[in-house]
Amino acid sequence: MAIFTQKQSLVQALSLVRENNKIGFVPTMGALHEGHISLVKKALDENDVVVISIFVNPTQFNNSSDLDKYPRTPEDDISLLYSLNKELIIYLPEVLDLYSESVSSKNYNFDGLENEMEGKHRKGHFDGVGTILDKFFRIIQPDFAYFGEKDFQQLQIVRKLVEIENLPVNIVGCPILRESNGLAMSSRNKRLTEKQFEEASVIYKVLNEVKENFSSTSISALNELVAERFLQNPHLNLEYFEIADEGTLKTAEQISNGAKYRAFIAAYAGEVRLIDNMSLN
Ligand code: PAJ
Repeated sequence: MAIFTQKQSLVQALSLVRENNKIGFVPTMGALHEGHISLVKKALDENDVVVISIFVNPTQFNNSSDLDKYPRTPEDDISLLYSLNKELIIYLPEVLDLYSESVSSKNYNFDGLENEMEGKHRKGHFDGVGTILDKFFRIIQPDFAYFGEKDFQQLQIVRKLVEIENLPVNIVGCPILRESNGLAMSSRNKRLTEKQFEEASVIYKVLNEVKENFSSTSISALNELVAERFLQNPHLNLEYFEIADEGTLKTAEQISNGAKYRAFIAAYAGEVRLIDNMSLN
C-alpha cells in the first residue's frame, strides 16, 4: 500500500510502472463503503496497478452546508483498504494540490446530459465533476476507470467527458450495491438515523414496483403511483421521479421500441439527499 498526497510524487511513481502494467483508477470522495469496495475489487481483477483517490471535491457541491457535512473518515477509509490485503495506491490530495490557481470549475457542454435530473437540481454539479475528473485522468492516465451505476447520470457524463476531451481511458460501469433493506449504499447513509434508514427503503421498493409494472402501465400512471407511495411516507420527501432514456437521459413521455429506459429518484430523508435508479427493460 502506498499513500500519496502530492500529485508530483504520484506521477513519478506511476511513470515507473506505466510501460508494463495496466493502470486501473477508482475515484471516490471517501467515507468508503462496500459499494466503493466493489469498484476497487473489479479494478484489482482487471488491472496490474490500482489507484484509488479520496478527495471531497469542493467544486461539485452547490450547497456549502452539504460540503461541510459531507462525512470525512480518512483513517477508517485507509484501514478498510488495508484490510483488502492487496497492493493499492491511495491518492489523498489537498485542495491546493489539484486547484492550484482557483477553486472553480470549467463550463462543459455534455450534449445536454448535464441539464437533466441532477443537473436541474444541483446547478454546476456536473461542471465540478467534469473538472475534477479531467484533472485526475490527466494526472493518473489510467487505462480503465471505474464508476458506479448508483450515479448513473454521472457515469454517462464521464463517458461523454472522455469523448469530448479525447482522453485514452476506458470507462467501466459497475452495478449498485445495496444494504439488506434495499437502500443503495452511500456515504450519506452515515448521516441517517436508524428510523430514517429503515424508511428510506421505500425508494428501492418503489423502483421495483415501477419495474414490475413498466411493460403494462403508462408512464403517467407510473408517475402517479410513485407520487402516491411518497405521500404515504411523510418522512421521505420526493424531489423528483423520472423515467428516462438511458442514452439521452431525457424524460420519457412514452415508450419507443428498442430504447432502454431507467427510473430515477431523488428524495430527502430529513436533510439527507438520497438518489437511486433502476434499469427497467
Ligand atoms: P462517491 O460518491 O464517493 O462515489 C465514488 C464512486 O463509487 C462513484 O463511481 C459512485 O457511483 C460509486 N458508488 C457509490 N455508491 C455505490 C453503490 N452503492 N454501489 C456501487 N457503486 C457506488 O461519485 C463521486 O464520489 C464523485 O462524484 C467523484 C466521481 C469521485 C468525483 O469527485
